Amino acid sequence: MASVSHDPGAQSAPADADALAPQVWPAGARRDEAGRIEIGGLDAVALAGRFGTPLYVVDEADARARARRTRLAFESAAHAAGTDVTVYYAGKAFLSGEVVRWVTGEGLAVDVCTGGELAVALAAGAEPARIGFHGNNKSLAEIARAVEVGVGALIIDSEVEIERVAEAAARAGRRQRVRLRVNSGVHASTHEFLATSHEDQKFGVPLERAVELGNRIRAHASLEFLGLHCHIGSQIFDAEGFAESASRLLAAHAALAAVEPLPELNLGGGFGIAYTSADTPQPIEEIADGIVSAVVEGCRDRGIPIPRLAFEPGRSIIGPAGVTLYTVGTVKPVPVEGGTRRYVSVDGGMSDNARTALYGADYTARVANRASAAEPALSRVVGKHCESGDIVVDVEHLPADTAPGDLLAVAATGAYCWSLASNYNHVPRPPVVAVRDGEARVIVRGESIDDLLARDLGLGASEAASEPDAATAVDDATGTPAATRTTTEGNPA
Ligand code: LLP
Repeated sequence: MASVSHDPGAQSAPADADALAPQVWPAGARRDEAGRIEIGGLDAVALAGRFGTPLYVVDEADARARARRTRLAFESAAHAAGTDVTVYYAGKAFLSGEVVRWVTGEGLAVDVCTGGELAVALAAGAEPARIGFHGNNKSLAEIARAVEVGVGALIIDSEVEIERVAEAAARAGRRQRVRLRVNSGVHASTHEFLATSHEDQKFGVPLERAVELGNRIRAHASLEFLGLHCHIGSQIFDAEGFAESASRLLAAHAALAAVEPLPELNLGGGFGIAYTSADTPQPIEEIADGIVSAVVEGCRDRGIPIPRLAFEPGRSIIGPAGVTLYTVGTVKPVPVEGGTRRYVSVDGGMSDNARTALYGADYTARVANRASAAEPALSRVVGKHCESGDIVVDVEHLPADTAPGDLLAVAATGAYCWSLASNYNHVPRPPVVAVRDGEARVIVRGESIDDLLARDLGLGASEAASEPDAATAVDDATGTPAATRTTTEGNPA
C-alpha cells in the first residue's frame, strides 16, 4: 500500500467549512436556500435518495463547456499563428458512450489507449478518422483492429511497433497514418507516477532516436508519417514544461521536415485542475497561448513552417465536472499530536477513488445535505475497505457536527476515479449519473452483488460468458477474429 504523502498541516482550517470554491466544484454546483448542495439544478439529497450512494454525479453542461472552451482556446491560439489544431479528449480520464457524444458534439476528437476504449468510442459513434490510438504495448490484435476500423492516427510507441503496424496496414491493404511518441526528457512538476516524459520510464522512444525512427517509418509504403508526439505528464498547472518540451521536439521535427514535409506536432495532454482551493492552474487560454507561442518561436528560429498541432486533455475536461456523493456511516475522534482528528467513514472508498491511495492526491469534501454553523474540525474522510490507506480525503476540515447519516460530496472526481475503480473487497462499482437542467440520467449503471457473483465460475456462473467476443477481437497472429487479451483463458476479450 502506497503511503499518503500529505503534510497534515498543508491545509489550514477554512473560514467556512460549507463554502464551495468555484474553481473546485462544477459550474452547476451551489448551495440552495435550505443549505443543500445542488448540481445541475438537482438537489444532492434527492439524487442520493433516488440512486443511492456512493454515486458519481457528472455535470453535463460543465463537461461540455470545458470541452468547448478548451477547443476554442487552442483554435484561437493556433489560428492566430496561422496553423490549425485538433483537440482530442483523452478517454482514459473517463470514457462512456454519453461522454464520447458530449465531447465529439463539442468538436473534440477522441484519444484511446486500448482495444476496450476503442470499442467504446466506436460504439458511441465516434468517427474512426477522428480517433487517435495510443498504448505502449498494443497487442497485434489491437493494432489490427485499429487499422481495420480506420483510426485517424496510431501512435507508435516503440521501435518494434513500426514493423508491427506496417505489416498490419499492408495486410489490410491500407496506408495507416501514424505518429511517433518520443520522450522529450522534460520532467513535468507533478507526482512521479504521473510524469511520463522523463528518461527512466516506459513510454515512447528517446528523443535522440526520433529522426532515425521517423525516417524508418517513412520507408514503409503502408505507413503515412504525420509527426512526433509527446506527453510530458499529468496535472501540470502552466505552459512552461510544454513549451520546453515543444522546443526540444522541434529540433527533431525540423530534421525530419528537412527530408520531407512533416505536417503535425502532438504535444499530448496533462493540464491540471483544482482539487482544493489552494490549487491555481493557469486558465486554459493562457496555457494554449503559451504553448503555441513556444512552437511559433521554435519554428521561426529554425526557419520551418509551423506544423498543425494536436493536444489530448482528459482530466481538465471531465475532472472538475464530477462529484462523488457518499453517506457518512461513522465518525470517530482519534487523538493526534496537538488535538483530535475525526475519522469520517463513508460508504465507498479506494474502490471508487483510488487516487488518494495511489498518488497522495488531495480532494475537497463538503457536507451536502445541510449547511452547518459548527466550527470546522480537522477530519479525514476514509472509506469502508479493509485497509488503513483507504483514504478519500486525507486532510479536510468538516463541520464539527458532521454525523452518521450526513451526505458528503467530494469534488473534482470526474477524472480517473470511475476509470480506476475496482471491486476491491467485492464492493460493487457505483453508477454514474449525468445531471443537466434539473434532469438526471444514469449514463453508466452501477454494479450489484449479483453482477459480482455472475462472474464467479465457482458459484455456478455461466462459462459461456467467458468466451472471447469474436465480433470485436482479432487474432494476434493472423488478424482474424479472436481475443484481444494475451491469454484468453477464462475471460472475455
Ligand atoms: N495523452 C497521453 C498520451 C496520456 O498518457 C495521457 C494521460 C493523456 C493524454 C491525458 O492526460 P490528462 O490531460 O488527463 O492529464 N491516473 C492518473 C493520470 C494518468 C494519466 C495517464 N496519461 C491520475 O489519476 O492522476
